[in-house]
Amino acid sequence: MRVFVTRLIPKAGLVLLQREAEVEVWPGPEDRTPSKEEVLRGVKSADVLLCLLTEEIDRAVMEANPKLLGVADHAVGYNNIDVRAATELGLPVTNTPGVLTDTTADLAWSLIMAVARNIVQGHQYVKEGRFKIWGPNLLLGMDVSPGGSGKPKTLGIIGFGRIGQAVFKRSRGFDMRVLAYDPFQSETIERTEGVEYRELFDLLRESDFITLHASLSEKTHHLLGEKEFSAMKSTAYLINTSRGPLLDERALVKALREKRIAGAGLDVYENEPALAPGLMECEQVVLLPHLGSASQETRDKMATLAAKNALALLRKEKAPNTVNPEVYQTAAYRRRIGLQK
Ligand code: DGY
Repeated sequence: MRVFVTRLIPKAGLVLLQREAEVEVWPGPEDRTPSKEEVLRGVKSADVLLCLLTEEIDRAVMEANPKLLGVADHAVGYNNIDVRAATELGLPVTNTPGVLTDTTADLAWSLIMAVARNIVQGHQYVKEGRFKIWGPNLLLGMDVSPGGSGKPKTLGIIGFGRIGQAVFKRSRGFDMRVLAYDPFQSETIERTEGVEYRELFDLLRESDFITLHASLSEKTHHLLGEKEFSAMKSTAYLINTSRGPLLDERALVKALREKRIAGAGLDVYENEPALAPGLMECEQVVLLPHLGSASQETRDKMATLAAKNALALLRKEKAPNTVNPEVYQTAAYRRRIGLQK
């Protein structure tokens, strides 16, 4: 049995896979992703495909091998895979939920603190040898806690799933007023003490910090654009650690340039790794290279979970984190695993 892994994943996952399967890891350099041809070549001789969020797994890739048993994504967000096509073709798709919740929520908070308190500018200032004397007017930021004003700040959470809730939990130490928007989690929001449900535009108008934790779909593509940025306070900061295309990045650059919002902390981009023209030059942005789940412990857990999912698919069992569980009832799946002609 053979698993094709599109890029080198942490050893914890590879070792697990190698106990039960022959594993082929795409041999390219770590700072590149395999080309479509290279993915197709690997898939053709594999029983299971283990991919990363950097590879687009479309119908053509999945149709390339009628013997393929499933696709295991090494990520919680699986917008890189055409799940509808997978289900039609009888292919289970899995992801890695849960294990990266805390790590990603921590990073969202790092960005909130970084944009509000000029952490990156301060670091540069010291490194460039410009720190000569403590200054009462030096790099003044905005309080996240009530701080000098004595008034609580308002945090707006868009997307109140696992990560949005973990971000909320951390806000308790900052004595914030918290609003949340998520049409699929309105009951959870109402049940959670300390959070108030708001419709999107109300949340945008009232919040001092807005943080995105929604998954990417046709419905959430460009959830925030020119109109939404115009609704925000000119003193508000926007944080995105989920998926870049939730934001219209060109409209964000315009809003930043025109000072319609105070700043942004971004870990993800609309056309990753490319940035929208002008974003790099904007002041008051903190830009990270998609580090949401980037701790050694969490990446080990993600690799282990992806490997466990892949092994379950190899064994023709229902994998623990299947995002399209309805596939197991289809004739197409039963044909793939040899239960039906
Ligand atoms: C994910 O898992 O979806 C993150 O974006 C990367 O860890």
